[in-house]
This record gives sequence, structure tokens and C-alpha cells, in this order.
Amino acid sequence: MIVPIELLPPKPVKYDITIDALPKLSFDTKVVVVTNPTVAGFHLDTLLQNLEAKALHVVTVPDGEQYKTLQTVEQILDECFEHKLDRKSLLIAFGGGVIGDMTGFTASLYQRGIDFIQIPTTLLSQVDASVGGKTGVNNKYGKNLIGAFYQPKAVYIDPAFLETLPKREFAAGVAEIVKMAVMFDREYFDFLKTADLRDEAQLKEAIRRSVELKAWVVNQDEKEAGIRAVLNYGHTFGHVVENETDYTTYLHGEAVAIGMVMANALAVELGLMEPQEAQEVKAVLEKYALPTDYVIEDIDDFYEHFFLDKKSANNSIKFILPEGIGNHKIVKDLDETAVKRVLAQFGASR
Ligand SMILES: NC(=O)c1ccc[n+]([C@@H]2O[C@H](COP(=O)([O-])OP(=O)(O)OC[C@H]3O[C@@H](n4cnc5c(N)ncnc54)[C@H](O)[C@@H]3O)[C@@H](O)[C@H]2O)c1
Ligand SMILES: [Zn+2]
Repeated sequence: MIVPIELLPPKPVKYDITIDALPKLSFDTKVVVVTNPTVAGFHLDTLLQNLEAKALHVVTVPDGEQYKTLQTVEQILDECFEHKLDRKSLLIAFGGGVIGDMTGFTASLYQRGIDFIQIPTTLLSQVDASVGGKTGVNNKYGKNLIGAFYQPKAVYIDPAFLETLPKREFAAGVAEIVKMAVMFDREYFDFLKTADLRDEAQLKEAIRRSVELKAWVVNQDEKEAGIRAVLNYGHTFGHVVENETDYTTYLHGEAVAIGMVMANALAVELGLMEPQEAQEVKAVLEKYALPTDYVIEDIDDFYEHFFLDKKSANNSIKFILPEGIGNHKIVKDLDETAVKRVLAQFGASR
């Protein structure tokens, strides 16, 4: 199945996201595959069996979010020069979101931009990171603060790669799937309530629906001037949780799961959501063994953390909240005491 991306003028772009077994790919240009040892160990043979090119090289970078840096990008660039890539050459990102974000960013830089293709191998990157053309790296000031909007030429999503994914990583991807459903599609949420995503056909269906929703959002708002911000549901709270725990306790998707529970509590407080609906979301997250509880030790400190997030421009926090299940509402300039009252529900003395 194919989901098209069609960005509108002034910079029209069109490409396909294919969700299926990886097809044979043939290029009459030089190709560099960027991957890491973990992904290569499991799946590089499969990829290479399906790939033909004028010249083919594999660049392996260390595995881990801590290597999503300019330094690693420079390593990839160096290897591109070593292999004498030209402006017609192609990069292929073969891995999770870390590899995808870095490879896309490198492609945007090499000789002012060469083509790249995404072949995502984690659930999170298949339903989220590989769709929409956000690329970049982290630095000491924060995550994803350096980067570019740079669209791939194609995305190939093969759910079979997920068979080797650790359970926690799989669940982290489910968190982003639940996010899409709660924000945009009640019927999809109901599907997730009863679905078994370990079943191949149901998993493929969930990936398709998530990619379609994300593509629909990106097609309207590539640069996050409006509706694309809705994809940050659960992230405003989740980022604080990740930050408070030094990015070591929770995977990103796990922190987002906790963040959605917190956002839902705020939505209930504001009368946007019924307690029963918040409970439904929590139950779906727990069905996939995602964490839904977190103890806030210092409520004032947690609150201050909101302002460190790059998305809270001009010192006003923008909360992305559900309105029931399947609809969203962006709420700004909330009263501090109301927000803190909700945070107190997660406080140590509750
Ligand atoms: N560009 C975007 O729009 C966007 C959206 C969401 C997240 N992101 C970024 O994506 C990154 C997170 O992506 P992620 O969750 O895929 O993490 P990741 O890329 O670190 O992958 C998670 C782990 O799974 C391993 N792995 C990958 N594929 C595997 C497989 N098939 N079998 C076994 N192990 C496998 C990886 O080597 C890694 O250890 C973050 O850096 C985040 O900022 C980007
Ligand atoms: Zn996320």
C-alpha cells in the first residue's frame, strides 16, 4: 500500500511512502547506506540482497541517541567524500529515528543537498520519524535544535524489520500511535482498544493508519506553523519527565505515554474530556505495557521546566490537549494555579 506525500507550493514536493515487504531497489548512481551495528547485525544482509547500485557503500555509526550529533554527521560526510559521492548520489537511512534524522540532515548538507531515502526499522520511526521531513541532531543546548526540513525521495516501511525490535522499543512506538488516534480519530482509537498489534496484519493496518494521519497533517503544515504542533500531544509534559530523569529512565515514547496521561488530567480539569475517556486512554497505554504513572517530586520545578522547551515561545506554554477522544484543542495562557493543581495530582504527597 502507498501513502502519498504532496506538499503544496511554494515548494511543491511529491513522493510515496510504501508500506509493504521491501521491494528490489535499483539505482544507477552511487549509494551510501547509513546504519548502526545493531540494525546491520540483524538486517543488513536483507537490505543488500534487495539493493543494486552503480557503487554501494555502507557507513556504520555508533548506536544511540547520544551519538545524534554534528560530530557523527561529520563522520558520515567524511565517508561520503572518501567515496567521492557526487550530486546525483543517494543516501539511504537504514535504522530507527536516530539514523533517519541524521542521515536526512547529512543529505541536506552534502554539496548543498543530495537525495535520500528512508528505510525505517523501529516502530516509532515507521509511524512517526520517517514521515514528514524533519531532520537534525542534538547538542548541549537540547534535542533536535540543529536541523533542516528536508524531504526524502521515498520511504519504504517494511513491518517485517520489527520482528527483532525489543519489546520496550516496540511499546514506545505504540505510544506515538495512540497519540495520533487520540488527537484525530476516535474510530482508530477504538481499533487500538481491541487490536493485537503483535498480529502482522493488524500491525500493518495500524502503521498504515498512523502514516496516513501523519501525512495528512504534514501535507497541510510541513513547517509546523499550525496543525503539525498537535503531534506534540503528550510531549510538553513528556519532555519534562525525560529531562528530570536525565533521559536515562524512560524511552522517549514511554515519557510521551506518561505525558499523555498528564495532558489528559489537564483536559479533564478544563472540562475538555470526561474522566472515563482519560481512563480509556490510560487503559490502552497499559495494554501495551507503557508506563502511565510518575511521581512529581517538586511541582514548582516541574512547572518551570515547561519554559525550557523550545516550543514554548514567548514564555507562554501551549498545551495540546484532547477534546474527547479523536479531537484536539490547543490551549494557551492557562492560569498557573490551574496547571499546578493538575500537577499536584501526580505529586509525591498525593
Ligand atoms: N523527524 C521526526 O519527525 C521525528 C519524530 C519522532 C522522533 N524523532 C527522533 O527519532 C529518534 C528516536 O527514534 P527511535 O525510537 O527509532 O530510536 P533509535 O533510532 O535510537 O532506535 C532505538 C533502538 O532500536 C535499535 N533498532 C533499530 N531497529 C531495530 C530492529 N529492527 N531490531 C532491533 N533493534 C533495532 C536501534 O539500534 C536503537 O538501539 C529520536 O532522536 C527522536 O528525536 C524524529
Ligand atoms: Zn515523540
